[in-house]
Amino acid sequence: MSSVKVLLSIKDENVARKAVDALRESSTNVSFEQHDSDWTSLLERLVKLKPDALLLDVGSAPTDLAVAIRQIKLQAPRTKIVAIHSVDDPKIILAAMRAGANEFLHPPFDESLAPALDRILNSSDVDVVPSSRGKIIGFLSAKGGCGATTLACHIAWELQNQTRKNVLLADLDLTSGLVGFLMKTPSSYSILDAIKNLSRLDDSLWKALIVEHRPSLSVIPAPATYTRWDHPEESQLTQALQFMRTQHDWIILDLGRSMNSIAAAVLEEIDQLFLVSTLEVVALHGLKSIVHGLFDQGEKLQLVLNRTPKMMDISTQELEKILGRSLYAALPNDYMGLYQSYSSGNLLNSNTRLAQHFGLLAAKIAGVPPMKSKKKFAFFG
Ligand SMILES: Nc1ncnc2c1ncn2[C@@H]1O[C@H](COP(=O)(O)OP(=O)(O)O)[C@@H](O)[C@H]1O
Ligand SMILES: [Mg+2]
Repeated sequence: MSSVKVLLSIKDENVARKAVDALRESSTNVSFEQHDSDWTSLLERLVKLKPDALLLDVGSAPTDLAVAIRQIKLQAPRTKIVAIHSVDDPKIILAAMRAGANEFLHPPFDESLAPALDRILNSSDVDVVPSSRGKIIGFLSAKGGCGATTLACHIAWELQNQTRKNVLLADLDLTSGLVGFLMKTPSSYSILDAIKNLSRLDDSLWKALIVEHRPSLSVIPAPATYTRWDHPEESQLTQALQFMRTQHDWIILDLGRSMNSIAAAVLEEIDQLFLVSTLEVVALHGLKSIVHGLFDQGEKLQLVLNRTPKMMDISTQELEKILGRSLYAALPNDYMGLYQSYSSGNLLNSNTRLAQHFGLLAAKIAGVPPMKSKKKFAFFG
């Protein structure tokens, strides 16, 4: 028989000991781990361990049990939840079952725990809604002003337009984020509010934090003010991103400029990082040092040359040779077009050459055939 992985989160020491004893004595092949830290780290552990079952003390949930169980199911949809309480209380059993627990147990566990685990091991997963797993794409500017924010906004828009999927644009440039301004989505909430409320973050709270730019394109801006005391920890950022994956098909991050601490912290979790540079010497220098630092990232790291002049002093091939990597895309320069659109409070007019390049880039990222455009033009140059 295959082994059952069980995670225990039981605050009541007496109950925890009884559960451990029963697990040890059970004839079912069980491997188990006890978790006695806080709720946020329990959710993190669930994501990593993906246990078959979680023995959850109903008293250890930080908020309402229904919210807690929804969070667990979002983070670990295949994990069965066995609600545990010190006594056999019908009211608590009913509340736990209504909240979505799969089983309810109380001590003594000798007779009840092993059969419950058998049921879990043998149950089919028909009731499990497969967790959607959105893709996370980050845009990072080789130095400020290269166009990371411009790309994040336009690519988010184009991805939604071309795939018709649910897209989130999240501003992680915490010190100088402009996404909310460019997308005209002023909000009282930011990504930091999601992070501060991780322990009670569920779909309804999330919907209250994000702003809809248009149907299926939502934005969560950077905070209006930011001090170093607000700096989120890597694990908090990871958890927030993992949550976003459960809510959206595409998550586009504006990561600000150069290899800052936020970009470094999310690197592991994101699926693709686009480094945006221009041909300016200082930008190329920044680009080269970031590429050098991330040499182990393979295909995850891609380079985009922005504001490419019509006549380049150096050929694309020469540039790729210097950087030791091929360019994913080269986007034309259209300062006036962007200036005029931003001044009138819009994204770039879709008839422009640059907007069509944004469309091609989004199609390449999404792996869909590019939408037909009226004008013919080359992707590079
Ligand atoms: N392809 C482009 N052609 C012309 N101007 C551009 C282009 N991309 C961005 N810009 C302009 O460059 C400036 C900096 O862009 P921004 O996206 O804010 O850069 P970053 O986020 O990397 O600091 C803005 O004024 C923007 O309108
Ligand atoms: Mg920016």
